[in-house]
Amino acid sequence: MEKTEYSRFRCFDDKNVENVHDLAYTFQVSFFAMCRIATFPWAALEKALLNSSSDVILDVLRKTCLHPICREKPPSVKYRRLFLSELIKRHELNASEPLDELYDALGDVIGAEEDALCYKTYLLPSGEAVSIEENVAVISEGTTGLVTWEAALYLAEWALEHPDIFTGRTVLELGSGAGLTGIVVCRTCKPTKYVFSDCHRAVLERLKNNVALNGLTRPDSTGVSVLTQELDWESAQKDQLGRIGADTIIAADVVYDPDIIGCLVRLLAELLTCKGQQSRPEAYISSTVRNPGTYSCFKNELEKAGLKHLVLTHPVTQVFPYNRITSIEMIKVHC
Ligand SMILES: C[S@@+](CC[C@H](N)C(=O)[O-])C[C@H]1O[C@@H](n2cnc3c(N)ncnc32)[C@H](O)[C@@H]1O
Repeated sequence: MEKTEYSRFRCFDDKNVENVHDLAYTFQVSFFAMCRIATFPWAALEKALLNSSSDVILDVLRKTCLHPICREKPPSVKYRRLFLSELIKRHELNASEPLDELYDALGDVIGAEEDALCYKTYLLPSGEAVSIEENVAVISEGTTGLVTWEAALYLAEWALEHPDIFTGRTVLELGSGAGLTGIVVCRTCKPTKYVFSDCHRAVLERLKNNVALNGLTRPDSTGVSVLTQELDWESAQKDQLGRIGADTIIAADVVYDPDIIGCLVRLLAELLTCKGQQSRPEAYISSTVRNPGTYSCFKNELEKAGLKHLVLTHPVTQVFPYNRITSIEMIKVHC
């Protein structure tokens, strides 16, 4: 994907697609992030098909299924099949001649074996791509940590607008999951040290692979010292936390289970109490508010533990494609 294209890519729906180039690019970004097929700007595509030849479809095809990223780090087989079937349907409805390239691309995925794994690829403002290997199933192996959640995209987008929170600091991420947020922070915000953490064996393995996949194990590539550690909120030891010495703590989508709120808050209190530290550590937590009762219980527990919280404003610039209607809140927590 080209750097210059980023500036044109501000919004991801029909209304905001200004020309045929924007259109193909919007399809590309949505396709590699595996957005829901229904959310693609199909009406704009149909309009473009009426006004131009099938070139627009060829452009979309080259930027999606025929793009080199799709060979190296493809979305799932099922997803590509659904996408191509929809593209063929829209083309047949609006164009007179069939397009061989579409059927050839579909032929490639029709016989392909379904996989349990897939890649999602996101584009940074610099034009660089971040690719995350994920499970196709949202919950598998008894964990929610093998896929990227919307609050992780939200927190990464927020970090892009507030790099100063991370620059030159030691950052600890709790419940990193597949690793998207931390990888974006390491690539763009220049922390000195970044510690990814989680408690689940399979998640930690995937996290390490994704960190390596994005070149973060080569310190020369980013200048950040990167570690991936097992850190269970229920059993984290003071000496482990002390060795990390975090100035900034972040977490995305970790407030969803009433049973783990207590230990998460105790851990935050331990990390944020500024015994002898020169700078006061701060935590930034983005949460998808699925159950308002669970979320207010979290905030009440923060207060009971003597921690203050402040609701922060949403990121302004849309960088990653995710559902903006979802209720996501970001808070800063401090002592
Ligand atoms: C919903 S996922 C969010 C993952 C990632 N932050 C994201 O937003 O894509 C919750 C994560 O918290 C982790 N987690 C849950 N309980 C935990 C605990 N007690 N200690 C450490 N991590 C935990 C899970 O393994 C999982 O990776």
